[in-house]
Amino acid sequence: MCGITGYIGKDPALSFVMQGLQKLEYRGYDSAGVTLVDEEGLSTYKTKGRLSELEKLLEDKDCPQICGIGHTRWATHGVPSQLNSHPHSNQKNTISLVHNGIIENYASLKEALIEKGYSFQSETDTEIVVNLLDDYYYNDTHDLFEALKKTLKGLEGSFALCIVSTIEPDTIYVAKKESPMVLGKTKDASFCASDAPALLAYTKRILPLEDGQIAILKKESIEVFDFDGKKAEEKWIDIPYDIEAAQKGGYDSFMLKEIHEQPTAIKETLRGVLVNKKIIFKELDELNYKWKKINRIYLVACGTAYHACIFASQILQRNIETPISHMPASEFRYGDPYLDRNSLCIFVSQSGETADTMAAMKLAKEKKAKTIAVVNALGSSMTRIADATIYTCAGPEISVASTKAYTTQLTLLTCLSIYLSEKINDVVADEGLLNDLKKLPDYVREMLKEEKTIEELSHLLDKKNDAYFIGRLLDYPTALEGALKLKEISYVHADAYYAGELKHGPIALIEKKTVVIAIASQSEVAQKTISNIEETIARGAEVILITKKDTQADKFRHVIRLREMNDVLYPIVSIVLLQLLAYYTATNKGCDIDKPRNLAKSVTVE
Ligand code: F6R
Repeated sequence: MCGITGYIGKDPALSFVMQGLQKLEYRGYDSAGVTLVDEEGLSTYKTKGRLSELEKLLEDKDCPQICGIGHTRWATHGVPSQLNSHPHSNQKNTISLVHNGIIENYASLKEALIEKGYSFQSETDTEIVVNLLDDYYYNDTHDLFEALKKTLKGLEGSFALCIVSTIEPDTIYVAKKESPMVLGKTKDASFCASDAPALLAYTKRILPLEDGQIAILKKESIEVFDFDGKKAEEKWIDIPYDIEAAQKGGYDSFMLKEIHEQPTAIKETLRGVLVNKKIIFKELDELNYKWKKINRIYLVACGTAYHACIFASQILQRNIETPISHMPASEFRYGDPYLDRNSLCIFVSQSGETADTMAAMKLAKEKKAKTIAVVNALGSSMTRIADATIYTCAGPEISVASTKAYTTQLTLLTCLSIYLSEKINDVVADEGLLNDLKKLPDYVREMLKEEKTIEELSHLLDKKNDAYFIGRLLDYPTALEGALKLKEISYVHADAYYAGELKHGPIALIEKKTVVIAIASQSEVAQKTISNIEETIARGAEVILITKKDTQADKFRHVIRLREMNDVLYPIVSIVLLQLLAYYTATNKGCDIDKPRNLAKSVTVE
């Protein structure tokens, strides 16, 4: 997500810090900043917007300092703004730090610090860390390393921290838990960064810091410790690839990288929402809606996000007696939907900027309907218009074809449906579902192990112009999304149908070697879908079947089995197979994976 860089060496630090941030720009960000340090003090420059804005700010500044840190921020707590951007410093302006990750217990830490007389400038969780460190240093240890160890022990959540101070102006302290951080060394300098591309112009030998480790960087040395202060083993590695490949984390494309990031993205999305078998949405509680008065619910979005709406409307309708509909935003805005102050409209968007979804949201607001946005990009336009926003925490999605944004949307919408079912119809959450939700990142990780099988199966689509995806109930949005992925990046024409609709027309298209991908994960109807596919086999179709462990499917040559879990969650794991199928089909054809023809990542025009 955000980018971090740090330098201590013989030359002015700013040059490394800025080039490093530029190398990390591909990760997406909304603000940037640096702190430079020497005996005279800390100089911090930060701004909302692109790195070019920060460069303008630094244009007439003299920056000879040989120690510095930098950051590009992708907002999580607090909107993108100068105040919320990093680095954050203590009130004495003696310690400054940058942070990636989320401090989960920041609210209670903040309260305790306020009681001790601390005040805060920003809405970030990061500012709590620098003040906690200040408190331990000045009021307790008078030793920065000791103060840092105490600070780290009090933090819950994920973090990569990089700290400079006037107390030790020749030192950078770095700490890591669950957010990436790599270190590098040359004869004259030590560096750190949140990702290898920032270092590769200087060194290809890097030390990835492990969870629970602190590093002390000086011009001539790097030392690594655990959080208790014990010396830790250093595992240096040589990076065999260039900067562009490193940005893709060693994967051939951003899409493949993002497919593999899904377990982490889902885990991040559930963080703070699924807590001790409870679904928590504080931002929705604060709306003080009279939930029981809701008379209808609309789920509205475009493209992939719209498929997430189809999924969500089905699971909501199982528990809620209120009528629920899903609509593409481009239809909703002109379709004269019935809306009044008791209608609830849920808008789903990765970018938070899609023109049709924005227009649909504005229409709902005009009609006084209640509005909730499910968005990935913090501070985006939709988040400023909706009554409340809940966030998928997929991180920046660079590939045009959406993958991790979709699975995190399904995950968050599942949580939202549990929340709304309880508020609107007093439905108690299904404990089995909550247990499986917690394990979902692992289930998705397991599914990724089928990559090799999918790569082999993708050759069924060699030289094919068409493919058909079928499914019933919750497998239908999966079929739609699988077909969309295949179309978008491989240009193979693909259609999705309800399995039961096949014989009402589309079956006329099935002939020898036509590829049909069938998803049969839903207990009630899996066997029925299988009967539908048998009809296609009888006409010579090549079928790939995705189904549960116990489904009878002896007649099929290509079957991928899904592990046991609550039926609601199958769409979140089975789509991973279809993303990979699209990816390998497109790769076999030599297509440009990340930039498919005619498509843009964010569609901000109608
Ligand atoms: C497909 C894809 C698009 C988007 C759609 C909505 O892979 O990415 O279909 O889902 O353009 O975009 P957002 O979610 O940004 O509103």
